[in-house]
Amino acid sequence: MENTDMSKLAEKLYKERDLSDAELEMLIDDGGADDVLFGYADKVRRENYGDEVYLRGLIEFTNYCRNDCYYCGIRRSNRNVERYRLTQEQILDCCKTGHSLGYRTFVLQGGEDAYFTDDRICDMISMIHESFPDCVITLSIGEKSRESYERYFRTGARRYLLRHETADDEHYRKLHPDELSLENRKRCLFDLKDTGYQVGTGFMVGSPHQTAKNIVSDLRFMQKLNPDMIGIGPFIRHKDTPFAGYESGTLEQTLRLIAILRLMFPYALIPATTALGSIHPTGREQGLKAGANVIMPNLSPTEVRELYLLYENKICTSENASMCKGCLERRISSAGYSISYSVGDVKRKGADKG
Ligand code: 5AD
Ligand code: FES
Repeated sequence: MENTDMSKLAEKLYKERDLSDAELEMLIDDGGADDVLFGYADKVRRENYGDEVYLRGLIEFTNYCRNDCYYCGIRRSNRNVERYRLTQEQILDCCKTGHSLGYRTFVLQGGEDAYFTDDRICDMISMIHESFPDCVITLSIGEKSRESYERYFRTGARRYLLRHETADDEHYRKLHPDELSLENRKRCLFDLKDTGYQVGTGFMVGSPHQTAKNIVSDLRFMQKLNPDMIGIGPFIRHKDTPFAGYESGTLEQTLRLIAILRLMFPYALIPATTALGSIHPTGREQGLKAGANVIMPNLSPTEVRELYLLYENKICTSENASMCKGCLERRISSAGYSISYSVGDVKRKGADKG
């Protein structure tokens, strides 16, 4: 298509916050007006959040996982991974370091690890909640029962990240073994919402067999869910997975999708992800300029970072928390934004109330 036609689509998305399925497909696949699209996305981001970038300290506390997702480096069938679990003490130390660096949100992320029973998860939540009452606890620990989600919430967790990965059933089947289902994934997300969490979902860009139509389904699903946070990043191959031979997603398409998400979900908290920073040296900065407003620096102990490899070439694996903080301060200001050390709750306006 002519660039002017693509610019018109970008403008229409900016004004109407939505497009037809066919128009969205065109925009997803055609980068002809990316500069215009990113310009609108940055404008909307600034209208809602100014120049602030929120930091979330990420603690990867276990790489044991009972699941076997075809894309993921820590899938249970990967025998080449040295498995680890952080102790309560190590987790608390990560929070202490993070807190002294200014972070007020901790994201506890891990594989689906049976060792971490609900009792242990709740112990961890209480411990952090009591030690850091000014902080928000976010969980990212996969599919659980509604009762479990309710228990974590009562104990003090307030946010939950669970990417839906793809909203198309057929595509879901190509990315996951039979024991996992899109239906249960969606059930989890709606249970989390009902329970009162601020919910984050998302998907990988350029995952094997993904089409523009699939991505439109992702956008439509998110319009129904109304998530507070939307995390997307490029798929990056990992040599010890069934998808070792597939191409990674591209920087360009991921940026385009960040911008589309910003225009469709003006209020959303959208991270410039580590995966985006891993496929290009300035991927995260470019993500911010395309509409992202969150960065999730790693707080995990340096010695385990190399073991939490969902994909290859992951950045920050030999740095520590304070090195990442300095690095990000420079990167965020070079992109023209400023760090906010507030808990950074979602800012919904009238029409955005989910
Ligand atoms: N490349 C990029 N992202 C991945 N994830 C898992 N494996 C990969 C990969 N190979 C993403 C999934 C998951 C999140 C924690 O990381 O979307 O939800
Ligand atoms: Fe970790 Fe740059 S953010 S080294």
